[in-house]
Amino acid sequence: MTELLTRAMAAPYQLTHEERVGLLGLEETSELFSAAYQVKLHYIGKKVSLRGLIELGNFCAKDCFYCGIRKSNDEVKRYRLLADDVLRMAQWSFEHGYGSIVLQSGEIESEENTAFIESVLHQLHERFGDRLGITLCLGEQTEEVYRRWLEAGAHRYLLRLETSSSELYARLHPQDHLFKRRKACIQTLRRLGYQTGSGVMIGLPGQTLENLSQDIECFRELDLDMIGMGPYLPHHGTPLGKGVTLSAEESDKLLKLALKMIAVTRLYLHDVNIASTTALQALADNGREQGLLAGANVIMPNVTDTEYRKHYQLYENKPCMDENSTQCRSCLHARVLSVGEDILWGERGDSKHFFSKDKV
Ligand code: 5AD
Ligand code: FES
Repeated sequence: MTELLTRAMAAPYQLTHEERVGLLGLEETSELFSAAYQVKLHYIGKKVSLRGLIELGNFCAKDCFYCGIRKSNDEVKRYRLLADDVLRMAQWSFEHGYGSIVLQSGEIESEENTAFIESVLHQLHERFGDRLGITLCLGEQTEEVYRRWLEAGAHRYLLRLETSSSELYARLHPQDHLFKRRKACIQTLRRLGYQTGSGVMIGLPGQTLENLSQDIECFRELDLDMIGMGPYLPHHGTPLGKGVTLSAEESDKLLKLALKMIAVTRLYLHDVNIASTTALQALADNGREQGLLAGANVIMPNVTDTEYRKHYQLYENKPCMDENSTQCRSCLHARVLSVGEDILWGERGDSKHFFSKDKV
């Protein structure tokens, strides 16, 4: 065990599939987490980067079987922010030392939406130039749309593959949601020159440790710069989550598995940015802090006005629903300090991997 972790710490890509599966199955995780944390310290230090998360709107053309804002969920009140609101939330993030923002919404492919985003990006760029990092998380689009947004000033894009197993993907989505297209979109983003992020859900029904190990190999294959993963959490308004509640024991196990995924991903890829996602905190109050100690280095505080937050529930028990941006800021600052880390105030916190000569 120690030999294996020492080898994995010394250089990236050292773990075989079987070794990754073994680590993901560990009961006793403290050595694994501390090895992953050491690798994070080596590349990044005791620093956490923040991204102010702006939930632009919850209209969605997709109907994923697990997601709370899927188009068939009639219980959702749909909203879309105005450009001025987005600019105000971005301004708040900038003034409060968040070096980057993420613009996230349901998936919409239309000229109207493309032009709206384009215009928001132009305005953001005019106001902040390169001082504010801009990540988009707006789903599958054509190459042309990705190019327009890049030219308008976005430079990072997150698109989760959800799982690297095409069979599992097919069981979680309607037939017209194509695994191949999603993967091709990620490849396009990378080719166009975005800092590219992806990730998977952890603990999906039918998902095995082998699947998860292959997900990590797939992150390498796609040459990702950023990883965002979180536990799958049932939502009652979805086909997959209807009538399902996790017991305390199941929640603990799921959290542990999600943390192990972060740790093994850090040990395998080394220099990428890894998010400690909000979904971890749905399973334990200190879930995000635990993510940091397992090797993550990015946190995405919600900066959306409180009135909209309840309409953007991809999963249930979403944290921070009744809080406002100021409360989340001081809450997260205290949480980061509580594990001996500090925040990289006012810096974009770009992925080291993006600038590395190891990039394939
Ligand atoms: N549980 C956890 N994560 C979810 N997502 C969507 N629905 C759920 C859920 N029920 C994640 C997906 C998506 C991201 C924005 O949110 O991975 O890509
Ligand atoms: Fe929002 Fe703690 S981060 S309440």
